[in-house]
Amino acid sequence: MSIVVTGASGKLGRHVVEQLLEKVPAGQVTAVVRSPEKVADLAERGVRVAVADYNAPETFDGLFTAGDKVLLISGNEFDKGRVRQHSVVIDAAKAAGVALLAYTSAPGSLTASLADDHRGTERALLDSGVPYVLLRNGWYHENYTENLAPVLEHGAVVAAAGEGRISTASRADYAAAAVAVLTGEGHENATYELGGDEAWSFAEYAAELSRQTGREIAYNAVTPEALTGILAGAGLPEPAAAMFADVDAAIAKGELVVDSGDLSRLAGRPTTPLSEAVAAALKD
Ligand SMILES: NC(=O)c1ccc[n+]([C@@H]2O[C@H](COP(=O)([O-])OP(=O)(O)OC[C@H]3O[C@@H](n4cnc5c(N)ncnc54)[C@H](OP(=O)(O)O)[C@@H]3O)[C@@H](O)[C@H]2O)c1
Repeated sequence: MSIVVTGASGKLGRHVVEQLLEKVPAGQVTAVVRSPEKVADLAERGVRVAVADYNAPETFDGLFTAGDKVLLISGNEFDKGRVRQHSVVIDAAKAAGVALLAYTSAPGSLTASLADDHRGTERALLDSGVPYVLLRNGWYHENYTENLAPVLEHGAVVAAAGEGRISTASRADYAAAAVAVLTGEGHENATYELGGDEAWSFAEYAAELSRQTGREIAYNAVTPEALTGILAGAGLPEPAAAMFADVDAAIAKGELVVDSGDLSRLAGRPTTPLSEAVAAALKD
């Protein structure tokens, strides 16, 4: 029996593996990656590394064992049919008879097109009959704080979220919830709506940036169409730009406010405040 984490070379996957190593022996953890060199340090620490690609079903043959607990971290290849990719993992998990398959989804309240792949994967997972957990992750603080250069350069947070609020949390918080599910009992067939304890508006975010930098940073609220143009002008492919603008429109409608308390309950502590993520980003 192993705890198996796909996408282990990614930012969330790294947090999950690091937190798992605080709770279980390294030999019980399997990191599934496309490029083993990205996790050479984990292999050195005794983590089993398996090489597989969501685009190549045969690479998952025999990867799972009966009784494994698996975390399927959603992929980021938006143009490659993520439901089909994720179904490769679900089919392999079913064939092996895993004990649990947890999937990093999106909040149930989110209607933006970005959520379509998550809803499709949830359906495939439920239809498979494999014991599941839906970790419906809200947005990361880091989606905003990892990209501060243009904000500081222009002295403005530009978004199409109007006065909408959003309950973000750090990747480490979402990883803690996943680890609680993978190492705990009684989570079979549960759906968790995960988000930060405190929701914030983009005006409040700009004010926090102003406070911590000592500079005047404004919130420049634009329309989704204008944001699509700005993002495309910055080099993002048009469909991706439209998809992100669509998310902002959903934020304006309150669709990324998550007030279930599931995240801090599973993590066993309050979620990380946005101000801490801002401070960490400004220190880098
Ligand atoms: N909730 C949010 O705010 C938010 C924000 C951004 C993304 N997400 C979603 O959450 C996931 C995890 O977030 P993250 O920050 O850890 O993203 P990330 O750093 O981009 O990691 C994505 C992981 O998926 C793996 N992957 C992608 N395509 C794959 C394939 N075909 N086969 C096998 N593995 C594949 C990547 O492997 P490589 O290292 O080989 O590329 C990487 O390990 C993302 O992939 C995305 O679906 C959520």
